[in-house]
Amino acid sequence: MSIQTLSTSPFEGQKPGTSGLRKKVSVFQQPHYLENFVQSIFDSLEDFRGKTLVVGGDGRYYNQTAIQTILKIAAANGFGRVLVGQNGLLSTPAASAVIRKLQAFGGIILSASHNPGGPNGDFGIKYNISNGGPAPEKVTEAIYEHTLKITEYRIADTADIDLAQMGETLVGEMTVEIIDPVTDYDALMEELFDFEKIKALFQSGFTMRFDAMHAITGPYARSILEEKLGAPPGTVINGVPLEDFGGGHPDPNLTYAHDLVDIMDGDNAPQFGAASDGDGDRNMILGPRFFVTPSDSLAVLAANAHLVPGYKDGLAGIARSMPTSEAADHVAEALDIDCYETPTGWKFFGNLLDANFATLCGEESFGTGSNHVREKDGLWAVLFWLNILAVRQQSVQTIVREHWAKYGRNFYSRHDYEGVDSQAAQELMEKLYSTFGHLKGQQFGSHVVEYCDDFSYIDPIDHSISTNQGMRIGFQDGSRMIFRLSGTGTEGATLRVYLESFSQDTTKHHLDAQEALADLIEQAEEIAGIKKYTGRDKPSVIT
Ligand code: G1P
Ligand code: ZN
Repeated sequence: MSIQTLSTSPFEGQKPGTSGLRKKVSVFQQPHYLENFVQSIFDSLEDFRGKTLVVGGDGRYYNQTAIQTILKIAAANGFGRVLVGQNGLLSTPAASAVIRKLQAFGGIILSASHNPGGPNGDFGIKYNISNGGPAPEKVTEAIYEHTLKITEYRIADTADIDLAQMGETLVGEMTVEIIDPVTDYDALMEELFDFEKIKALFQSGFTMRFDAMHAITGPYARSILEEKLGAPPGTVINGVPLEDFGGGHPDPNLTYAHDLVDIMDGDNAPQFGAASDGDGDRNMILGPRFFVTPSDSLAVLAANAHLVPGYKDGLAGIARSMPTSEAADHVAEALDIDCYETPTGWKFFGNLLDANFATLCGEESFGTGSNHVREKDGLWAVLFWLNILAVRQQSVQTIVREHWAKYGRNFYSRHDYEGVDSQAAQELMEKLYSTFGHLKGQQFGSHVVEYCDDFSYIDPIDHSISTNQGMRIGFQDGSRMIFRLSGTGTEGATLRVYLESFSQDTTKHHLDAQEALADLIEQAEEIAGIKKYTGRDKPSVIT
């Protein structure tokens, strides 16, 4: 073991965001940068001597190099055992599943989620705690504080190990076990879902495409969908994980999952389409020429959960992030269970799941999950849909339309203004905050403001308070408009405008969301002066 002393206080500290530390690969390649951060993680933890750590990543460029370094630092710091996915691979939900199953002390996940990879792309590192979920803010803050004052790190002076070779090796005195990244996750999915029914569905000729976007879910989807459930080979497309995701942007939305969208819009579209992101925690659900919004998807899963073995005894509650549509609230009301509204970011669901206040949770940003792990889970959502399709024997579109007929439709859209000037975005938000005291009762188009606030959240379990989580405006007709600045962007600021209206009139349910929301979109401009502040007359991305 050797102790490396840093000559200068490094890098002005490394501040992990809600999803860990994400930077360009070249930043991570600076001498001592990764080492500094990993030592700072360990310095902010207690009593881990001899205990087990789980390590794996989404396979992007620098994944294996980083893992070799992490193993040596873990050994020098006294961990007893580290489990590593073969070839350094573990999807984010699979890492969470392994941490929980083996009751590990924690885990380190290497990923920049849906951000592009490769030598010029992004890399990321995140620490998860023993419940399998992302470290809470007090831990990430402590890590950051350590990065500001760190002067040395401990690293074992050992050779790199073979990450492809299954089984155990030693790094210093620490045991490293290379595990199959898929096995534990597969087993968990098999416990939750009716594999026999889904198998029968495929046997009956049901067609599907799963776009793994050359990211981590390829091996998982092939193993589960094609090998276990008998979907024909070719069901999984872009199934080989590549260090640069084939040059693509592994984000499962209508813009980036274009291979899948083209197939689903085509003449011979399969009956079901789905995609997942770089690290496997996001999902997109499609029918032939039909897009299921993530907000609707959460509501449909909740309404049909009783059809799925893992959830047949009912849901304790549902949780959704504040900007996610209220579709799930209508289901919760019908089921007579609570629906929690949390700030944006998966970490806010952790306590609710741990305390069994909520069973299902979701975000509008293509994240859906449950209490089976403590991360959102892309393939899980796809299997949940498959289980429902296998039981109901109806099309995706019919299931969603029947859902709207029963609960009403929450028309929904998110407008992103990416890469805007940070100061201008700040000014726009400040202007909004300064006016919201006067908005109540005012009329915008046909909508009268019922409430308006700067969203804050008190965690019902630990009572921690999160403020400044976005400006929320609710109208008397049930529509909502939310303005917030992204916390994950890397260039300038991203303004997100979330728009929602509610209709129980089935004759209107066929409308396109942009059409149905046109008036609200106009009023958003009226209220916030987006054009004036950002200089943009239209969003860069519409979802
Ligand atoms: C975005 C999404 C949010 C998600 C986060 C991490 O954050 O909106 O729902 O939890 O990525 O995947 P944002 O950029 O809006 O802060
Ligand atoms: Zn992700």
